[in-house]
Amino acid sequence: MLTEAENNKKKVGEAAVAYVKDGMTVGLGAGSTVNMMVETLAKHLHKENIQIHVVPASIHTERLAKKFGIPLTDFSEVEQLDLMIDGADEVDQQFQLLKGGGGSLVREKIIASAAQELLIMVDESKLVATLGRFPLPVEILPFGWELTAKKLAELGAKPKIRGGEDKPFVTDNQHYILDCSFGEIPNPQSLHNQLKGLVGVVETGLFVDMVSTVLISSDGEVSTLSK
Ligand code: A5P
Repeated sequence: MLTEAENNKKKVGEAAVAYVKDGMTVGLGAGSTVNMMVETLAKHLHKENIQIHVVPASIHTERLAKKFGIPLTDFSEVEQLDLMIDGADEVDQQFQLLKGGGGSLVREKIIASAAQELLIMVDESKLVATLGRFPLPVEILPFGWELTAKKLAELGAKPKIRGGEDKPFVTDNQHYILDCSFGEIPNPQSLHNQLKGLVGVVETGLFVDMVSTVLISSDGEVSTLSK
């Protein structure tokens, strides 16, 4: 028996796989919504007799795709993707995203920037008027992370090293993540630019002007917002 949250993830995943067509190269993000969607995608491919190749955004997503027999590819073989499907931690009214709760934001952003279309799956609780309720994940180099955290604090954040100082969480890229409470983020592009200007910062979880379609699940029903 699925919980309400799981059922919403299942439904939005079913709606997302309908966008996958024969011959596509598809980016798959990371996180619990994507995890549930991978099996649904495998069933969709089998049922419709569709051949695709997938670029996964995390080691976990890659393992899941392999488990369900979905063919993989990478950027040594493809330059452009037809579609990327991913989750998000927040979506604002301008379709700007805050991502990285699962720690895969760098690879997600690389794949999203190579995709013609970014399709985002969320439930209603992730829709916000202004980004910033969820602390902003910022991926940083481990070397000198304490200094990088101070620089972020000078920009108004309350940075916390993910996993704690004694055993920081390590990303698939062997980096750390600072979860940074900034309060409301009315201008994501400007904050992203400021953060990227700091030495030690690899990438931020702000995905600005990348999304074309958002699928939103609520009470097991899915609605679509398109730009
Ligand atoms: C992974 O790093 C994240 O960007 C996820 O896409 C985001 O955290 C959404 O995850 P859930 O689907 O688990 O809510």
